[in-house]
Amino acid sequence: MINIAIDGPAGAGKSTIAKEVAHRLSFIYVDTGAMYRALALACIRDGVSAEDKEGVVKSCENASVTIEYVNGEQCVQLNGENVNPYIRSEEVSKMSSSISAYGEIRSMLLNLQRNLARNNNVIMDGRDIGTAVLPDADVKIYLTARTEIRAKRRFEQLRNKDSELSIDAIEKEIIERDNRDMNRKIAPLKIAENAVLVDTSNLSIEEAISTITEIIHDRV
Ligand code: C5P
Repeated sequence: MINIAIDGPAGAGKSTIAKEVAHRLSFIYVDTGAMYRALALACIRDGVSAEDKEGVVKSCENASVTIEYVNGEQCVQLNGENVNPYIRSEEVSKMSSSISAYGEIRSMLLNLQRNLARNNNVIMDGRDIGTAVLPDADVKIYLTARTEIRAKRRFEQLRNKDSELSIDAIEKEIIERDNRDMNRKIAPLKIAENAVLVDTSNLSIEEAISTITEIIHDRV
């Protein structure tokens, strides 16, 4: 099976780009952030705070996260319910980045992620795919963009959803989340050895998609 790992900070365009590249290569796209988001939603629904590690672990142990593909679209199921519509809020973003620092939570998702890669040609995106989940991936890409560009893109995305968040508030949230993800002890976000660095600050989505597709074609 061919495994492509894409890591990078929040809002770099990983999911939009990885999803389209996967479609063009007929690979499946695995969004591991959505798995952390589903567990975060379980904690929020249980009324557990992120600092309450015991409560978080208990809540996540009682939650079952599975993945299904419907018309090529990844659906994350929390206890059998498709939770895709509920996992993109700022509250869930924040909670997912806090609970993903706990090793217990990371181990809960590791088998699910590795099994998908063992049984399918995958493009898997996240923060620790090239460094921890799939260290032997055929291609590793680190996708990034300048912070203000990432905030602007997120702002445009949210504006279509009637969000009241200002661009400054979004940039602040992105910086906080990156700091947490890059500085945690277990599986922090960093550039994997042998990863190809792609900065999308000055690239259109189409240009980023063709850049990544070429990198993959050159290597597999
Ligand atoms: O990619 P996305 O923004 O949806 O991820 C939400 C959060 O889940 C990230 O901020 C990060 O804390 C966590 N995450 C992680 N490891 C991954 C994917 C996501 O820790 N492989």
